[in-house]
Amino acid sequence: MSTLRNLAEEHTRLRPADIDHLHRIAGDWQLLSDLSFADLLLWVPVDGDGAFLCVAQVRPTTAPTAYLDDQVGRIVGGPEVAHLEVAHRQGRIWREGDPVWYGDVPARHEAIPVRLRTTDGEAGEVIAVVGRDTNLSTARTPSQLELNYLTTADDLAQMIADGTFPPPRHPGETTSAPRVGDGLVRLDAGGKVTYASPNAQSAYRRLGYASHLVGEDLAALHRRLASDPLEGTDAANGILAALRGEAPPRREIDARGATMLTRALPLMPAGVPIGALVLVRDITEVRRRDRALITKDATIREIHHRVKNNLQTVAALLRLQARRVSMPEARVALEESVRRVASIALVHETLSMSSDEAVEFDGIVDRVASAATEVAATEATVGMRREGSFGVLPAEVATSLVMVLNELLLNAVEHGFPPAAETPAVPTGPGTPAPAAPAPGAPVAEAAGPVEPEVVLSAHRFRKMLHVSVTDNGRGLPPDFDAERSGNLGLQIVRALVTGELRGTIELRDGAKGGTEATLVVPLVRNAPEGRPAG
Ligand SMILES: Nc1ncnc2c1ncn2[C@@H]1O[C@H](COP(=O)(O)OP(=O)(O)O)[C@@H](O)[C@H]1O
Ligand SMILES: [Mg+2]
Repeated sequence: MSTLRNLAEEHTRLRPADIDHLHRIAGDWQLLSDLSFADLLLWVPVDGDGAFLCVAQVRPTTAPTAYLDDQVGRIVGGPEVAHLEVAHRQGRIWREGDPVWYGDVPARHEAIPVRLRTTDGEAGEVIAVVGRDTNLSTARTPSQLELNYLTTADDLAQMIADGTFPPPRHPGETTSAPRVGDGLVRLDAGGKVTYASPNAQSAYRRLGYASHLVGEDLAALHRRLASDPLEGTDAANGILAALRGEAPPRREIDARGATMLTRALPLMPAGVPIGALVLVRDITEVRRRDRALITKDATIREIHHRVKNNLQTVAALLRLQARRVSMPEARVALEESVRRVASIALVHETLSMSSDEAVEFDGIVDRVASAATEVAATEATVGMRREGSFGVLPAEVATSLVMVLNELLLNAVEHGFPPAAETPAVPTGPGTPAPAAPAPGAPVAEAAGPVEPEVVLSAHRFRKMLHVSVTDNGRGLPPDFDAERSGNLGLQIVRALVTGELRGTIELRDGAKGGTEATLVVPLVRNAPEGRPAG
C-alpha cells in the first residue's frame, strides 16, 4: 500500500474516493510543479485542531527545490500552515504574503484547495490543500518561457481548485507522459499556437515542420504532418477534443521516420475553455529501440528453432545408423544416444516458442517421461506419474536437467522392471526362495504382488532449491551397487551434469518400500557472485 494511502487512512477521515483523487493528483502534478518552478506539497487536514499532514511531495525539475529534506509525514499546526487553513476553509487559492525562510532559503508560499467533483459534476467539497512553495533565492526577471509556464501553471492551479485537474486517466497508458521539459505548446480557444517552447519547436522540426509554430492551427498541422492519414486525423481530433474541454488519450505521430508522443490537456480555469496545453516528446529513439528488441527476440527464437532442427537431424542420423548395425550392444548404445539428443531438442523446441530464456518445464519432462515408458521391456506397462511441479526454469538449468531426468527415468523403467527372462539374475540370498519367480499355474496378479509397476517423478521448490525424486517400485539396485562409483555411461552423465552444470547433489538408494529412489537437489540461483545474497 502507498505511503499516501497509509498516512491518509491513519490520520484522517478521508473517504476512499477522496484518497483516489489525491493519488490522481500526485500522479500528474509533476507538470504543475515544473510549470510553477515550485515544490508542491499535498496537505490533508488532520482531525480536530487545525493541523495539516503532508502526504506527498514533488520537486520541480525546472528550478531549485525549496526543501532539501523530505516533508512527507510531517504534521504541522499554527502559523506555519495558516495559509493552508485559509485555502481549506474558504476554498480559494491563497497567494499573498511575505517570503518565508527555510534556513537561508527564501520561499514564497501559496495554497491551492483540492476539490473533488461529485459524480453528477457539481463542484464538491475541499478535501486537501496543495502547497506551492517557490525557492526565491534564484528568482530574477522571468523570461518569455517562464512567463508562459507560470500563466499555464496558474490555469492548472485553478483547475485543481475547480476539481477539473487532473483529467481522468486512460487505461493502459504505459509510456510515461511527456514532461514540460520535453516540449510544450499552448493553444488559444481557437486552436492557434500562442507559445511553443524551444524543445517543442525542435520536435516538430524533426517531423518535417521547419517554420515557427506560433499562429499555427495545431490540429490542422498534425493532420498535415502525419505520414499515415488515419493517424493524422486521430491526432487532430485529440487536439480538438482538448479544446472542447475533454482529456483525450496520448497519441503518437509518425512522420519522416521520426515519432512524437503528444498529450493534449484542456485548459478551463473556472470552467471556461480557454485553450489547451499540448506536451510533446520526441520518442523516435525509444521506438527504434523497441523495434530492435522485437527483432532481437525473434532472432533468438529462430536460433533455438534451428538448434532444435539440427538436434533432430542428428537424432535421425543416429537412428538410421542404429537400424543398420547388427551388433545388439551397438544398436542399444545408438538408440540411447538418439533419446539423449532428442531430449535436449525438446528444451530448444520449447524455448523457440516463447520469447524469454526460461521454460515451463513440466510439459518437457512429461514428454521425456512418457517416452521412457515406451522402452519398458516388461510385458506389463510401467505406470508413470508426476507429483508437484517444476515450474519455470532458466534455459541452462532446463537443458542439463532434462538430460539427467532422461537417464534416471530410463534406468527406473529399464532396470527396475527388467524383462522376465532377466529376473532370475537378481541375486537373492542363498536359501531364500526367489519371490519374483511365479509358481507355475499361479494367477499372474498374485505372483506379481498387488503393486503395479510404477515410476513416480516428484518435484517441488523450497527456498530457491528444486527438489526432485525419481522413485520406482521395481527390483531395486544390485547388491554390490556403490552409489558413488557404480554405473555405466548413463550414471556418469548424471553425476557430471548434476555436480558440474547444475551445481547440485544426487543420491541413489534403495527405496523405503523396495525399489529404487534417486533424489536430486538443484539450486535455482546460479553463479551468484560472492557476497551477493542468493536471490
Ligand atoms: N532404478 C534402478 N533400479 C535398479 N537398478 C538401477 C536403477 N538405476 C540404475 N541401476 C543400476 O545402475 C546401473 C548403471 O546405470 P547406467 O549408468 O544408467 O547404465 P545402464 O543404464 O547403461 O546400465 C544399471 O545397470 C543398474 O544395474
Ligand atoms: Mg542407464
